[in-house]
Amino acid sequence: MSRDTDPPALPWRHDGSIDLNTSYLGLELRNPVVASASPLTGRIDDLVRIEHSGAGAVVLPSLFEEQIEQEAMLMDVMGGFDLGPEAIGGHVPQVEHLTGGPDQYLSLVEEAVEALHIPVIASLNGTTPGGWTSFAELVQDAGAHALELNIYDVAADPDVTGAELEDQYVRLVSSVRSIVEIPLAVKLGPHFSSMANLARKFEDAGADGLVLFNRFYQPDIDLDDLTVAPNLTLSNSGELRFILRWIAILRGQLSCSLAATTGVHTSEDVVKSLLAGADVAMMTSALLANGPTHVQTVLDETTIWFESRGYESLNQARGSLSQRAVPNPSAFERSNYAKTLASYHPSR
Ligand SMILES: Cc1cc2nc3c(=O)[nH]c(=O)nc-3n(C[C@H](O)[C@H](O)[C@H](O)COP(=O)(O)O)c2cc1C
Repeated sequence: MSRDTDPPALPWRHDGSIDLNTSYLGLELRNPVVASASPLTGRIDDLVRIEHSGAGAVVLPSLFEEQIEQEAMLMDVMGGFDLGPEAIGGHVPQVEHLTGGPDQYLSLVEEAVEALHIPVIASLNGTTPGGWTSFAELVQDAGAHALELNIYDVAADPDVTGAELEDQYVRLVSSVRSIVEIPLAVKLGPHFSSMANLARKFEDAGADGLVLFNRFYQPDIDLDDLTVAPNLTLSNSGELRFILRWIAILRGQLSCSLAATTGVHTSEDVVKSLLAGADVAMMTSALLANGPTHVQTVLDETTIWFESRGYESLNQARGSLSQRAVPNPSAFERSNYAKTLASYHPSR
């Protein structure tokens, strides 16, 4: 399929009888399909297409802690005059990303809020509490309806314990929470020893929602050049299963919002996410592959799925297959391991 460059002929309209209204982070969304952070959500014309296709909300691409600190260092070095990185001759590490620098980011937030009618969630990506977090207030002042804090880290220092890192992340969340009043979501990775414990700590630190999970990109080794290079591949629906397990487990343990991200491609993926207990299902790879109008297809098919089974609202269905709700809660835990292995039937 080719990527759409034009908006669909008609803006998305919900003709069905089922109530798709969704509460996420305390925001009222017209439906639970959210476009997660990607290059597509960094351009106003694409954002308008995504809204036109029916998305309930959008998450802008992240501005990185390093980008904010780099700008602050430049301001410091130049005595308050921001002359740009080239002026100080390469002493500051450069962070290239989709969003330009902090000023461009604030402009993007302002323009997106101005152009769209659906909630605009800004995104900051960082790992340490520190001065950079005060930027969150500027994002709030620029009009963002909520903030997603992406904690994307690779714990490679043998001197730092898991407990120390978790404490650092929780302090980061507390610090951002103390700075902004808008709703705060935390997007985290799956590699923690006690996920349920850390999830509760984030909630206690003031997170209004958790976005499960960051998809980790693995560098590849180029055998021709003998170099290590980033290599981004898009996700597939098979990756959703891991997400569903944790949404289902955490749904009964936390009262904050839960968003499913990684592997949501089809209406079936959206339905599964909601049944497991997600408030919203987020999509990036599917939109990059199929274009913004894919939102409309997914929404229409999701509506048909629920209506054909007699549901009147999504709230009726949400979490009905979470761990607390199913007759066999161990299906989500260790005891399911042996059953899963035994369920394999060789095809010949
Ligand atoms: C090209 C690209 C850029 C991305 N940029 C960001 C980003 O700036 N911030 C962020 O939190 N996630 C970013 N992501 C991750 C997505 O938001 C999403 O969590 C991930 O792709 C998994 O969802 P998917 O299976 O629907 O693709 C990016 C993903 C892709 C493919």
